[in-house]
Amino acid sequence: MHPLLSLSVFWLLPLALTLEEDSPLDCVPRKSVPYHRVNARLFHEEGVFNYSTMLLREDLNLLVLGAREALYALDLNDISKKHASVKWEVTEEQKTECKNKGKDPETECKNYIRILHTMEDNRMYVCGTNAFDPECDYMSYADGKLILEKKGEDGKGKCPFDPFQRYASIMVDNNLYSATSMNFLGSEPILMRSSPVSIRTEFKSSWLNEPNFVSMAQMPEGENSEQGDDDKVYLFFTETAVECDCYNKLVVSRVARVCKGDLGGKRTLQRKWTSFLKARLDCPVLESQLPYIIQDTYRWCDPQQHWKNCLFFAIFTPQSDTSDLSAVCVYQVSDISRVFAEGKYKTPVPVETSFVKWVMYSGDVPVPRPGACINNEARQAGINQSLDLPDRTLQFIKDKPLMDQAIQPVGEKPLLVRRGATFTRIVVNRVQAADGEKYHVMFIGTDEGTMLKAVNYDGEMFIIEEIQLFQPPEPIKILKFSNVTEHLYAGSENGAAQIPLASCERSLSCMDCVLARDPYCGWDKVVGKCVALSNSKSELIQSVKDGDASLCPNADPIKPMNRSIWPGGNLKLSCPSPSNVAKTSWERNSRPLTPSARLQLLQDGLLILNASDSDGGQYRCVSVERSKTDEYTATVAEYQVRIEGSDRGGHILFPQAQRDGPSVAGLQAVVGLLVVSLLVLLAWNFYKGHLPVPWNCGKKSEQTPESHEEGAVHSSVSHQEPPRPALTEDKPLMSGRDNGSSNNNHTRGEAAFSAAGDVNDAPEVNLTSLQYIDDESEI
Ligand SMILES: *[C@@H]1O[C@H](CO)[C@@H](O)[C@H](O)[C@H]1NC(C)=O
Ligand SMILES: *[C@@H]1O[C@H](CO)[C@@H](O)[C@H](O)[C@H]1NC(C)=O
Ligand SMILES: *[C@@H]1O[C@H](CO)[C@@H](O)[C@H](O)[C@H]1NC(C)=O
Repeated sequence: MHPLLSLSVFWLLPLALTLEEDSPLDCVPRKSVPYHRVNARLFHEEGVFNYSTMLLREDLNLLVLGAREALYALDLNDISKKHASVKWEVTEEQKTECKNKGKDPETECKNYIRILHTMEDNRMYVCGTNAFDPECDYMSYADGKLILEKKGEDGKGKCPFDPFQRYASIMVDNNLYSATSMNFLGSEPILMRSSPVSIRTEFKSSWLNEPNFVSMAQMPEGENSEQGDDDKVYLFFTETAVECDCYNKLVVSRVARVCKGDLGGKRTLQRKWTSFLKARLDCPVLESQLPYIIQDTYRWCDPQQHWKNCLFFAIFTPQSDTSDLSAVCVYQVSDISRVFAEGKYKTPVPVETSFVKWVMYSGDVPVPRPGACINNEARQAGINQSLDLPDRTLQFIKDKPLMDQAIQPVGEKPLLVRRGATFTRIVVNRVQAADGEKYHVMFIGTDEGTMLKAVNYDGEMFIIEEIQLFQPPEPIKILKFSNVTEHLYAGSENGAAQIPLASCERSLSCMDCVLARDPYCGWDKVVGKCVALSNSKSELIQSVKDGDASLCPNADPIKPMNRSIWPGGNLKLSCPSPSNVAKTSWERNSRPLTPSARLQLLQDGLLILNASDSDGGQYRCVSVERSKTDEYTATVAEYQVRIEGSDRGGHILFPQAQRDGPSVAGLQAVVGLLVVSLLVLLAWNFYKGHLPVPWNCGKKSEQTPESHEEGAVHSSVSHQEPPRPALTEDKPLMSGRDNGSSNNNHTRGEAAFSAAGDVNDAPEVNLTSLQYIDDESEI
């Protein structure tokens, strides 16, 4: 009872807030696709967890998946088909040693696969945490088998010790670039290249200060470069800001980069990067707030264009719990590269004895420019490799690796902002729409197992849909995209899922297909279906920028469905809202229907309670959806309702479990609305004295006049009284919490309550309900 009230408050409150806030910052997905309608291909192996390392082997038609103590080779076209697997478990000895060092034998002392890359000879390079003693190995796929070579290479500095620590890595020209901690305690962060001459970062807080590594990417900046520049490797991470003039720790997002040909210095910076430069990365979500922190990036390059046009799509989340916004910002590589190539540096200045302030450096900058790759100009000066760099340049970069200027996103604002589930991963695909233009479609994984599909149309944020990929909800830990299969692959702790880029067939009408504004889909007039652009030769109706559904032919009239009901019975007429942004309304006999206590509007239908003869007739449910250009109306459902001859004990037709129903959120809202209407109805009944005073009547006599209304509300909720016996039956979820169970024998709807009436656990239940009462007394 009380829990019910609090639940309804919790469900309705956010709803009210989102409705009220109508802020452009908060973008609502047009559709929410529940798990059972996604038709994802799934992979999971009994007893195996942590599927968070993935390698696409399009050349072998495989998805190689790294989990805890195991690797799998799955069919790239259908990951539910397993071609091969191989175990990589820690030995008892390793486990004991790990345990003796104080780590948990059941979780930390296992081998979590963390690194998986393709080598030039087609083998794969694999590393695992290996019971806090990281190890690497080579793996090949031959004759339908995955084979580990058991080389036992040291994985220090390549792979984290701690499976819970974030890391990043990339394979470039057969050299592994890794960003991780290189010691047991996790206190020595490095960015390292493992090559014949291994190069790494200096252990200095000005280089890496308690970092969290996010991702890495390479950029072919040496290709046809007029300056004779070198290729770069970029690293995205977060760290505690050294430059912050503040008392509290402040975390900032960074991008750093190194040159591929860096060999370190001769005396200064021996075997260390001479080209490590970093800058702050801004994603201005709201002004005057703590900076948002980066969580993942996706490098997008047009193969036909210069690398300067490559983009980094990055997701950001707040660093404090005070906000639940997540954002996508996009950065152009040329903007990043310009800051490193031409920008000013920051320099530490001692202010007091132990305090250092970082300010812009305005003194002379040595030549060659500190942190620059070896280019033609340097070569002309006789400097052919980083080993030839003068000490002055090296000393400068050793002390001042931080750029003064922060990097701003394209358009200086986010591409997408969303309130709710935290963004975890992103991939981006570019697709040509029917209008001939190409659009970036963002696929964003969240920590609630959903994936958002979103586009920014000329500055307008639009979320096409939100898809529930994992059930029960669990964070998406990895997200990959294959342009060969045109499928997305997601991994979580408990399994992996594969879905196509678009499922156009989910739109059943032209209007829905066009209002979806999905660049992958269009309406085929001839076959009368929403189909993928790529599979269709005929001209399709699509309007991604405007969502102009007036292009659609007139829809076929809806076939009315017959329903009959006994007087006094309840009936639900279903009308699932075609989208989260559509509003539905009802007409009876072609006249707008006014909701009342007996005719209740639900989010997905209409509820007729205690039907009477006057309730018969024709019912029509109409949806109105606002698109960018116009408002569109469609008939969603039509019913012919007949009232049967009177029979008091009558049938009760009540909503079946939703087969086709809305998302969980939808259901919650429905229940919330139900509860509120019930409250109103009951409060009115009490007021009129139609119903007996419920069990906690002791309270009633104490009620002061001003608390009367509130008291009535409380007690009415406590009692799932006659008006809605079916509700309890329908939703056993709630009845379990009914602390009025001791009271069941007083109610008339005994049959309905019997499902709820676990009288035996009353003491426990009462305890929790007491808390609820406490909570409410404060409302
Ligand atoms: C591995 O998966 C289990 C089961 O979901 C989870 O509890 C655990 O936190 C995961 N471990 C890591 C290191 O991610
Ligand atoms: C750099 O290379 C050029 C030509 O390859 C050579 O003549 C020159 O001596 C080299 N300079 C150094 C410092 O090694
Ligand atoms: C897929 O992308 C890669 C680069 O990421 C490109 O080389 C390749 O041509 C693309 N393949 C297809 C079929 O588009």
